[in-house]
Amino acid sequence: MSSEPRFANSPAAPGADPADPAELRGRYLDLLRDALTFNLWDGRDGSMWRDGSLTRKAVRVALSRRRLELTRRLPREWRAEGRDWPRLAHTMIGLRRMDNLRSCVERVLADGVPGDLIETGVWRGGACIFMRGVLAAHGVTDRTVWVADSFAGLPAPDAGKYAADARDQHHRYTALAVPMEEVRENFRRYGLLDDQVGFLKGWFRDTLPTAPIERLAVLRLDGEMYESTSDALHALYGKLSDGGFCVVDDYGNIDGCRQAVDDFRATQGITEPITRIDWTGAYWRKGTPATARTNGTGAGVAPGVTATGVTDARVTDARVAGAAAR
Ligand SMILES: C[S@@+](CC[C@H](N)C(=O)[O-])C[C@H]1O[C@@H](n2cnc3c(N)ncnc32)[C@H](O)[C@@H]1O
Repeated sequence: MSSEPRFANSPAAPGADPADPAELRGRYLDLLRDALTFNLWDGRDGSMWRDGSLTRKAVRVALSRRRLELTRRLPREWRAEGRDWPRLAHTMIGLRRMDNLRSCVERVLADGVPGDLIETGVWRGGACIFMRGVLAAHGVTDRTVWVADSFAGLPAPDAGKYAADARDQHHRYTALAVPMEEVRENFRRYGLLDDQVGFLKGWFRDTLPTAPIERLAVLRLDGEMYESTSDALHALYGKLSDGGFCVVDDYGNIDGCRQAVDDFRATQGITEPITRIDWTGAYWRKGTPATARTNGTGAGVAPGVTATGVTDARVTDARVAGAAAR
């Protein structure tokens, strides 16, 4: 069993019937993942110029007047591993975190865990588009993918309230502000914009506590800061069904995010173990699905190998040392 992601352009598994629906579903989802992450092009996307300072911004604006832009070339592994802010890809996250997301969604479908799916912090929308694609591939029509973002970047830190965010600079990056219309257009391009997609526009502290969500089966957090992570957990974790997954994109990479998760887990008495996905992503499964409690199976099962041969690429405690662009 390989823990390496299978690429969309891999040949069919030996002996597989190419017309088998599960094989076709797997191929569609591999292709969708590789298009969203830009891995069809060997990851040769390039990383965006981050204009955190006024000088950098002035350079970017001056160049753009001449229809020029600066792109940083990075090794292809950076895109595959989701270590960059890509120029064109529709998601920042890499292959392992995409496979984990797919496995989480497929696991809750297989186990009948009730609820919708949400990502808090969507940028260009790629991870949410992928979740909608997984629902479509499985013919699921009774769940919504919620797309929560300011669509204007990150908030300035409120150091008085969240000391861990005191030095956070994310709000300075215009590259993180993607308008909602652009995200909607990205969904549309993949043929996945419909009434099973709901948009929650605004700061998490304002939108999430009153969001019209009854229950969740997958809660994916990608808001980077302590405040953003904490706001999402406090507003939504109580709605996560037993057997649902809580996925945290920046657990390994951003101290404030990790601290928000650790604080929340400590105050709520959450003891389910955290599993690392890759150098930054992590997840845990909340409780036991109701179906497993009645038939005695599946207790605490983490997402694993699916029928299509895609693995969740679990790497337990595989925090990768070294520099990360995000
Ligand atoms: C790193 S990006 C998300 C990447 C995305 N998940 C992907 O697949 O590429 C972080 C996003 O979180 C949003 N965000 C962060 N904190 C927020 C907050 N408190 N309220 C609303 N949006 C927030 C930003 O606007 C940005 O789009």
